Amino acid sequence: MPKLSIRDLDLKGKLVFMRVDFNVPLAPGGQEITSDKRIRASLPTIKYALEQGARLVLASHLGRPKGKPNPEMSLKPVAVRLQELLGEPVVMAPDCIGPEVEKLKEGSDRVILLENVRFHPQEEKNDPEFARQLAAGCDCYVNDAFGSAHRAHASTEAITRFVSKSAAGLLMEKELEYLTKVTQDPPRRCIAILGGAKVSDKIEVIENLLKIVDRLLIGGAMAYTFKLAKGEPVGKSLVEPDKVELARELLAKAGDKLMLPVDHVVAAQVEAGAPSRVVESIPDDAAGVDIGPKTIELYTAEIAKAKSIIWNGPMGVFEKPPFDAGTVAVAKAVAASGSLSVVGGGDSEKAVKAAGVADQISHVSTGGGASLEFLAGLMLPGVAALTDK
Ligand code: 3PG
Repeated sequence: MPKLSIRDLDLKGKLVFMRVDFNVPLAPGGQEITSDKRIRASLPTIKYALEQGARLVLASHLGRPKGKPNPEMSLKPVAVRLQELLGEPVVMAPDCIGPEVEKLKEGSDRVILLENVRFHPQEEKNDPEFARQLAAGCDCYVNDAFGSAHRAHASTEAITRFVSKSAAGLLMEKELEYLTKVTQDPPRRCIAILGGAKVSDKIEVIENLLKIVDRLLIGGAMAYTFKLAKGEPVGKSLVEPDKVELARELLAKAGDKLMLPVDHVVAAQVEAGAPSRVVESIPDDAAGVDIGPKTIELYTAEIAKAKSIIWNGPMGVFEKPPFDAGTVAVAKAVAASGSLSVVGGGDSEKAVKAAGVADQISHVSTGGGASLEFLAGLMLPGVAALTDK
C-alpha cells in the first residue's frame, strides 16, 4: 500500500489517536448493541497498538445526531462491550474535546474512548480548529475506520494536518487490499453482481465496473428500470421512471457484458409470505420481488466460471421471505465458487450471513457506502489524507 501502515510506526510510549468505526446498530433506546461486528473488526489494530506499548484515544461517530448531543447515540454501550472484548479497562470520556478529555489524555489510562464526535457540528464540517483539539496531545494518528473513509470529516481528514504521521490500521489495510485486488488486474474471469433497489445509487459503480469485469449480473429492483428501458413490461414493480434514459445509455455501453434476469418471482403484495408466482413477463397487476429459478440457474453458472467476484446488493426483497431465495442462492453459489470474493457491506453482508456462508467469502467489507465509492473508482478522503510511504 502506498500509505503508511500502523506497522510502520514506532508506538512505544506514544499517545495514539485512533479513528475507528464503532457506528454499531443499537436497539431502540440506544442501550443495547445488536451487532458488535464493527467493534470486533478493529480489535486486532487496538490489541496490536497496546502490545507495542501505545496508549490509545479511540474516536468514532455513531448514528447521525446532527451536531447535538443525543443520549440515544452515546458510545457508552460501546465502551462496555469493548472492555469485555479486550479484557482490560476502557475509560469512557464525557466528550471528545475539552478540559476533561485533555486531563484523561495526560493521565495513564491505556484505553480511552471519546464520546460521539458527531455531537459537535464541526465534525461533519471538517473544521480545522475542532480537528486540532481532537489531535491535541496525541503523537500520531491511525485510521482504522474504513466504513467512514468516504467522509471528509474532522476526525477522518482534517485531523491528519495536526499530527506528525497518519497511518492505516490493520482493518483499513485489509479492506483496501481486497478491494484493490478485485478492481486492479483481478484474476479472470472477473464478474460483478449488483443488486438493490435503485439504479441511481449505483450509476458510477456500474460505469466503473464495466471497465473492469467480464460480466455484470443485475438483480434487485434496479433490474426493472433496465427492463423498462428495454421496453419490457414491469407491472407494479419498483422502478425509477426518471432513470430510464440513463439505463438505456448504460445498456448500450455495456453490450452483452450486462445480464438481466430472464424470469421473476412476482406478487400482488410485497409482504412476507404473500402468494407469489414465477413469470417471464411481469403482468400488470403484480410486482417483481425476486429473481426466478431460470435466472438463478443462469447466474449460478456464471458465478461458477468466475475466478474473482465483486458483489453488492440483494437480488430481491430478501428481508421478506420467501423473497430471499434468489439472494440466498447467489450467496451460496459465490461461496461454492472458491473464487476471490469480495462482498460489500450493508444488505449484502446480511445476505451472506443469512445464507450461512459468510466464512466462505474471501472478504466481507465493514463499509457499505465506503466500499461502493471505492468500487465507483472514487478517491476516499480518509485514505488520501494518510501519510505517503
Ligand atoms: C456507515 O455505517 O456506513 C458508516 O459508519 C458511515 O456512516 P454515515 O453514512 O452516517 O457517515
